[in-house]
Amino acid sequence: MDIRVDEKLTEETDLLVLGLCEGDKDYYKSIDKDLADELERVIKAKIFSSKFGSIYTTWLKNKLRVLILGVGTEKEFSIERLRRALARAVKYAKGNNIERFSTNLVSYFFQRKAEDERLIGRGAAEGIILASYSFDKYLTPKEEKKPLSTIFIQWKKEKKSFELGLCEGTIIAESTNYVRDLVNEPSILVTTDYLAAQAQAIAKTFKKTVSVRVLGRKELEKEGCNAILAVGKGSIQEPKLVILEYKGGNKGDQSTAIVGKGITFDTGGYNIKLTGYIETMKTDMAGAAIVLGTIKCLAKLNVKKNVCGVFATCENAVSGSSYKPGDIIRAYNKKTIEITNTDAEGRVVLADALAYTEKNYKPKQIIDLATLTGACFVALGNQISGAISTNKDLLRNLQKAGEESYDRLWELPLLDEYMDGMDSTVADVKNSEPIKYGAGTIMGAVFLKQFVEKVPWAHLDIAGTTFLQEEKEYLPKGATGAGTRLLLYYLLR
Ligand code: BES
Ligand code: ZN
Ligand code: ZN
Repeated sequence: MDIRVDEKLTEETDLLVLGLCEGDKDYYKSIDKDLADELERVIKAKIFSSKFGSIYTTWLKNKLRVLILGVGTEKEFSIERLRRALARAVKYAKGNNIERFSTNLVSYFFQRKAEDERLIGRGAAEGIILASYSFDKYLTPKEEKKPLSTIFIQWKKEKKSFELGLCEGTIIAESTNYVRDLVNEPSILVTTDYLAAQAQAIAKTFKKTVSVRVLGRKELEKEGCNAILAVGKGSIQEPKLVILEYKGGNKGDQSTAIVGKGITFDTGGYNIKLTGYIETMKTDMAGAAIVLGTIKCLAKLNVKKNVCGVFATCENAVSGSSYKPGDIIRAYNKKTIEITNTDAEGRVVLADALAYTEKNYKPKQIIDLATLTGACFVALGNQISGAISTNKDLLRNLQKAGEESYDRLWELPLLDEYMDGMDSTVADVKNSEPIKYGAGTIMGAVFLKQFVEKVPWAHLDIAGTTFLQEEKEYLPKGATGAGTRLLLYYLLR
């Protein structure tokens, strides 16, 4: 997608996309008298309104197609509104075989309301590129479609930060689309080998800043990562721990570690999942995909930070060699885990990944991302991820990045009273406790905390936000990439 910036609205285009906010009459008079009259008529007739989401299409001087979007009141203008308005424009263009459009939306919003130019640019590129995404490679095309290729953005204010933002937003959104692809691709393709190969490809492309290590079965045995090995035992796929080190910062600077859950398919194991729950379980590697997408984006943007990206990947399959309820496993940090439910496998692989990361990479903080609990979807739905942390500052800053990117987080408490919830009578900790406390998402974190010794840590549960049953604004049906932009906004601050 080619995004161009100009002070004027170009007329050499297939479509003009214009905003209309409440009470704005004069703007259209300055564009075209007939158009202004027409708008007055259709607003009076209640065919169109300035309410956000209302749309009207017409022609300018009988030759240029015009799409007018109601964008609400001036007070409601925000970067998120801009993302959504541009997303609507993109979807309209794609649905109508339009190859290029020009729009005043960005300047229309922020001529009137001040915002950081760089964040406006980011938001604009994100709205466009996130909304352009579709996962249709396996569909036989019904008709020849022209792709939307060029968007002209009118922008009259300071140009440098705005264009920097556009450039960042483009790469952030493309990285998010890469994560969406990894999550949408079926588990027949996205195996543990495939994810490791993605990491290796990133390290190869960015030789100067990115290095990769892949621990396979043999290395995991040697290191004592028995928790990852246990979950992967029932599958023909080889369990792996993958570490991508991005070194964009100063040499001695401690890194932020991001750790992802990479279950390529979660059958539930012997605690097998039922129809209605199992269908989408190819998405259970979203945490790992986010780690890949984030490191790739940091390297592309040449961000001046050190970030250590780690993911544990295996398949939770059913077979004669699968791990079973009642098994007791010794994790990397020597703690023993009683398996009470083979479907609580994510926390088991993360146990090793977290402990291994803290011990061997000595990060200043760890953020893990995991499609960990169905309970998180029950509590928060599909529009906001759950966050649990041992460090207030880390959590607040992640939440701020969440608001800015609109890839949001809601805090859940790690209450003292719940801390014995995962105690076992035969091992140091058990992996599930369905009855005593409820609080399924918090219990996941109570378990994980056993495997983080002292470094500030935040756990992000993305089980609800990773996958949508129907599209919403710039989020497509299927994989959303939720968590990616959040992390990138956080790391770019
Ligand atoms: N991968 C699932 C969680 C999940 C559910 C992700 C729905 C996306 C959508 C996880 O491994 C799981 O099965 N968790 C169990 C935990 C329970 C056994 C303690 C759950 O949520 O039921
Ligand atoms: Zn599971
Ligand atoms: Zn799972």
